[in-house]
Amino acid sequence: MCAALPDPAPILQLATGYWGSQALLTANRVGLFAGAPAGGETAAEAAARLSTAERPTLLLLNACVALGLLARDGDRYTPTPTAAAFLSPASPAYLGDALRYSDDLYGPWGRLEEAVRHDHPTLPPTDILGGDPAQTRHFVRAMHQRALGIARGLVEVIDLTGRTRLLDVGGGPGTYSALLTDRFPGLRSTVLDLPPVVAIAGEILAELGASERVATLGGDCHTTTWPGGNDCLLISGFLHRESEAGCRALLERARAALAPGGLLIVADVFTGEGGDGPPFACLFGLNMLLSAPGAGVHPAPAMAEWMADAGFTAVATHPLPPPMPHTALVAVRG
Ligand SMILES: C[S@@+](CC[C@H](N)C(=O)[O-])C[C@H]1O[C@@H](n2cnc3c(N)ncnc32)[C@H](O)[C@@H]1O
Repeated sequence: MCAALPDPAPILQLATGYWGSQALLTANRVGLFAGAPAGGETAAEAAARLSTAERPTLLLLNACVALGLLARDGDRYTPTPTAAAFLSPASPAYLGDALRYSDDLYGPWGRLEEAVRHDHPTLPPTDILGGDPAQTRHFVRAMHQRALGIARGLVEVIDLTGRTRLLDVGGGPGTYSALLTDRFPGLRSTVLDLPPVVAIAGEILAELGASERVATLGGDCHTTTWPGGNDCLLISGFLHRESEAGCRALLERARAALAPGGLLIVADVFTGEGGDGPPFACLFGLNMLLSAPGAGVHPAPAMAEWMADAGFTAVATHPLPPPMPHTALVAVRG
């Protein structure tokens, strides 16, 4: 008699997890949610609107019902409240561009074995950083939409009262700077990022009405001279692109750019000490392996140690509110 086997369901769910991802990403890409009529639509109407074939469109619509993205009433399909909140461009919480960025990474994820064997990214690193204008725009808009959620959590957790000069290193779309300078009167910020990225950040800051509070500086943060005399400095979602040596070098630059008593905030996805959890952080490490040379994800305790080695004191850990599992490490320049 065989010993009882464990339940294979977790293995099978992992093996087919991309089916659901690709149904969502494809529906988003073809515009299923973007222009959905208020009264719902049949498969034939959706196919005509989206220029897709009717029979597969019906299969996609039914899959979206099963995934909780559409509701069916007879033969009419309507976005569910969750889909309408996050997948309709009319919604202030729209995440469609963030999904397009995930979509751009689908091909590189299919070549994970190559990255694991040879330790090189499968997404050409410059594609999303200016090399491919469409992918760069998806990436910067994706960071903005994602940051609108995460940064709202950060402004509630970090107190910058009385501080006047923020340097936002690798600040991307400038969303953090816009929200922080809005929350703390008198605070002004400079977003340092690569020139093609700050060009799009300028558009986003104008849309947010933050252009007067937030300046941009185009350059490579490893080689460009950082503006000095700041009383706070943010490095958000950036150090996962760097090796330990790269992190240590940038933390030294952060110390030099801060006035004594200045506050350093390092916000990112971190693993725990052993590097083997939580699951999102470990998978994010693989995502970075595919996206940038030498990139990965760091354990929070290691980052705190590197900050202390760079001369920062009182390193405190602040988990940011869901849905993204980000943590802010906050320390004072000693
Ligand atoms: C994941 S994004 C984080 C953006 C923003 N700080 C946030 O948290 O939403 C990483 C940013 O680092 C920027 N970046 C990558 N390499 C850089 C470099 N060498 N110098 C300056 N910025 C760089 C990218 O353009 C991108 O905006």
